[in-house]
Amino acid sequence: MKIAVAGLGYVGLANAVILAQEHDVVAVDLDERKVDLITDRRSPIVDPDLEDYLAHRELRLTATTDARSAYAGADYLVVATPTNYDPDLNFFDTSSVDSVLDLVAEVAPQTTVVIKSTIPVGFTASARERHPGLTILFSPEFLREGRALHDNLHPSRIVVGTDADAEPQARRFADLLAAGSLDEDTPVLITGTTEAEAIKLFANTYLAMRVAYFNELDTYASRHGLDTRQIIDGVGLDPRIGSHYNNPSFGYGGYCLPKDTKQLLANYDQVPQTLIKAIVDSNATRKDFIAFDIIDRDPAVVGIYRLTMKTGSDNFRSSSIQGIMKRIKAKGIPVIVYEPTLEADEFYRSEVVHDLEEFKRRSDVILANRRSEDLDDVADKVYTRDLFGSD
Ligand SMILES: NC(=O)c1ccc[n+]([C@@H]2O[C@H](COP(=O)([O-])OP(=O)(O)OC[C@H]3O[C@@H](n4cnc5c(N)ncnc54)[C@H](O)[C@@H]3O)[C@@H](O)[C@H]2O)c1
Repeated sequence: MKIAVAGLGYVGLANAVILAQEHDVVAVDLDERKVDLITDRRSPIVDPDLEDYLAHRELRLTATTDARSAYAGADYLVVATPTNYDPDLNFFDTSSVDSVLDLVAEVAPQTTVVIKSTIPVGFTASARERHPGLTILFSPEFLREGRALHDNLHPSRIVVGTDADAEPQARRFADLLAAGSLDEDTPVLITGTTEAEAIKLFANTYLAMRVAYFNELDTYASRHGLDTRQIIDGVGLDPRIGSHYNNPSFGYGGYCLPKDTKQLLANYDQVPQTLIKAIVDSNATRKDFIAFDIIDRDPAVVGIYRLTMKTGSDNFRSSSIQGIMKRIKAKGIPVIVYEPTLEADEFYRSEVVHDLEEFKRRSDVILANRRSEDLDDVADKVYTRDLFGSD
């Protein structure tokens, strides 16, 4: 079977590798650098399993910038291009997905298109109206950055949204994902496309709510001089709550949670709610609190230790520490940054200090969203809310 994949980021690359274990996969990106790296069997992103599979496994995977030839004759096309939140539209910018659909409708209309990009609720139904000749499915992606391939080798569930006409293609696609994984008995859900879109946004909004909840618990405890950890330990021992995904932070961040919660809120237009908006707003409230707490210490220079959201990640899209950094700089406090994955000497007009020792020496307070052994010798300077060293 020939499968094309559009977009070689976290989602596209992980899916391409899963499928290329047994099928001919042609992966397409506009970015020549990524295509060249993948052709050389090197991963453009930091992800231990992706690096291992690309380097050492037999994969029927080719990469190209030539979308036309890649899509021609494909049985399936997996779309994994970006859908950034557009604050002016108050909605996702779906233009990259639209451009892929336009092209495949022109060059390979027999292809079954599976959208893996996260899209607004109702997008697939309207795309089908715009492209009546195309079969379009939506399969939400649940991977975590830094564990993109791992989460596809061990999927929590496989969900494929379809209309009634395309149910066989949807089941087949679910089978392809299951066959490429290492687990038996992964739950498979075949749903409507709009329901599948809702599953993705409601799942991420729940995760954001959980982060926001434990962060606001921590804000309360900090203000009242209470031990946050004792409270979270006691709360989590209720099995209905659980002692997982409960580690306070500077706010929820990363590429997906901030934008997906805002998109769900936009989809609630004309539908009564208070909670979804509170989840969105809570993140700014938390960052205001953290920034205030730091500014209150009257530091001469604030050091930002890593711009990334998570330990082991090389990606700092929408990381919450950037929101703290912005607030501190707005008060005129000098900020320096230590980020080993960044070659530039400046980040948003703040100096990037490449030498860790110099960075430690020059910082009065060091902000770390997640603790690191790197900072053990300057523990008295470190400001973090990471209590459990997890998530
Ligand atoms: N990153 C995650 O953790 C994650 C998890 C679940 C879902 N998603 C969703 O999946 C989608 C992709 O996310 P990502 O993190 O993999 O993105 P990414 O930014 O890492 O990669 C997207 C890639 O698509 C390429 N691209 C853009 N337009 C293209 C086009 N017309 N044709 C071919 N390639 C094109 C870009 O050059 C880029 O390499 C988004 O909608 C995102 O919300 C992401």
